[in-house]
Amino acid sequence: MKIFDYGAQAIAQSGILQNSYLERLSAGSMPLEEFRKSQEQFYFAVLYFSQPMAALAARVPDPYLRVKILENLLEEHGEFNAQAFHCNTFKSFLESVGTSVNGVKALPPVHAFNSALSSACALEHYCVGLACMGVIEQSFATISAIIGNAVVKNGWIRAESLVHYQLHAKIDERHAEDFYSIIEKNLESTRAAGRDTQEIEEALERGTSLGLYIFERLYRDLIFESKVDGILARSKADTVGVGYA
Ligand SMILES: [Fe+2]
Repeated sequence: MKIFDYGAQAIAQSGILQNSYLERLSAGSMPLEEFRKSQEQFYFAVLYFSQPMAALAARVPDPYLRVKILENLLEEHGEFNAQAFHCNTFKSFLESVGTSVNGVKALPPVHAFNSALSSACALEHYCVGLACMGVIEQSFATISAIIGNAVVKNGWIRAESLVHYQLHAKIDERHAEDFYSIIEKNLESTRAAGRDTQEIEEALERGTSLGLYIFERLYRDLIFESKVDGILARSKADTVGVGYA
């Protein structure tokens, strides 16, 4: 089975696409202010994403395979055009829904997501990192389409003004394929050399499970419950940690 098909099965089984965040947003029951707060936090995942990816690229021993991650890294950095850096296209998206990250700090849910991703990419078998990044990209293609449709349907953005999510709905399945293809080539060459592929297969399974777990968990943890009078309640995340100085 192609790893992309395995990833699609794992995504379907994980329930991430029916996650309470996406369901509330699609059903029109998430207030705009709550959506803004959750997406401000999501910015810190977008900003960080290319760093574990760079660490992972450094660990792919075959340069012909490593370039697949370098291409993705270059896209993350807007092909050297600062305006098109993905962190900047996401800032434009935030502006289009009437908010920004000025003065906003990353809260523990996104910090935890970023740290788990770093650990998978920098410290584990590199196929764990590849599977983890791959399945996040693969699921984000559909999640981007769900969020993009919902913000237009909710009347928060006009379809022609939608940025960031529109792009990722298109490109992230290809990014997933690129990560997966490195694992597939690794499996092929290991088989051709007459060696056991069990370690790689286990790394694929663990990376896929971890990626889906941390991504689904991030969305659930970014739900900011609102009071009936429209005044935002403190999120659970806001209650973790205290200010210093
Ligand atoms: Fe991507």
